[in-house]
Amino acid sequence: MKNFINISDHSSNDLRAIIDEAKARKLKRQNLNKSSPDEDKPFEGKSMAMIFEKPSTRTRMSFDIAVKQLGGTSIILNPDGIHYGKGDETLKDTAKVLTEYVDIVMLRTSSHKNLEEFGKHLDIPIINGLSDVGHPCQIMSDILTYEESNGAIEGKTISWLGDGNNNMSNSLIEAAGKFGFNLKIACPKKYSPNKKILSWAKKNKVNLTVTTNPEEAVKNSDCVMTDKWVSMNDKVNKKAKKKILKPFQVNKKLMGKANSEAIFMHCLPVGRGEEVTDEVIDGKQSVVWRQALNRVHAQKSIIKWCLD
Ligand code: CP
Ligand code: NVA
Repeated sequence: MKNFINISDHSSNDLRAIIDEAKARKLKRQNLNKSSPDEDKPFEGKSMAMIFEKPSTRTRMSFDIAVKQLGGTSIILNPDGIHYGKGDETLKDTAKVLTEYVDIVMLRTSSHKNLEEFGKHLDIPIINGLSDVGHPCQIMSDILTYEESNGAIEGKTISWLGDGNNNMSNSLIEAAGKFGFNLKIACPKKYSPNKKILSWAKKNKVNLTVTTNPEEAVKNSDCVMTDKWVSMNDKVNKKAKKKILKPFQVNKKLMGKANSEAIFMHCLPVGRGEEVTDEVIDGKQSVVWRQALNRVHAQKSIIKWCLD
């Protein structure tokens, strides 16, 4: 039984195997309907519980479809509708109960500690569906999307623009170490990657550049990525943060400085006209809708790996 909480917890070989299985399964079911099960139904008779402490469109939908395609069922728990969220049942007791009912749990939480705590008391795997610290499922599916567009990610250069200290950028740094790509982050000093992730990057010899110059970050880049300037539950002065981040907007001019085959990625939801212009997100280099679709395929593989 394995949990999937941080990309950094796993070996490069295991992570590569997850991506390769996702590719193979996606290819095999090309002619099937969106929710028809895969031929081998590896999750038949099994179920997943999903708890969302924060809003979600893609994670909610893509995990539900992923489980259906694996031949299983899922149940979504709204914290307000269960005792745990109301504070009248402990996380530990909730974990013990869920262990009796389902085969795997997915948690989206504002506190990464909740994932670790749940993981301790569950006798079944837990998957991180986004926390304040990381968004590993999104980054795994982004690796899949990148490789479908531009081939092997190893040795390629990915640029990250904007908030350099959020869940997405943390998981991306971990992925750069595990998959061996170069990562160039352009962000204001105030929103630079935090000390903990920088020291992990150093220890793991990640080819990471952090700069305050957006043009320098996109030069020779194969993929330009960004994210909302203000994340969910980000307790900041939104107006002030957006003002500082304005020079890091991905627009046509900046995209033009990247390699000609470079793709644009965004995990969504997007702040149109803020971190990216309509022209870029709706343009030819953008792969954002396929990124959303690939959440299904990457997560099927993650679920399978956790249970194998
Ligand atoms: N990208 C992503 O996780 O989207 P949701 O917040 O809609 O799940
Ligand atoms: N950094 C964003 C990602 C959304 C999928 C957030 O946490 O809101």
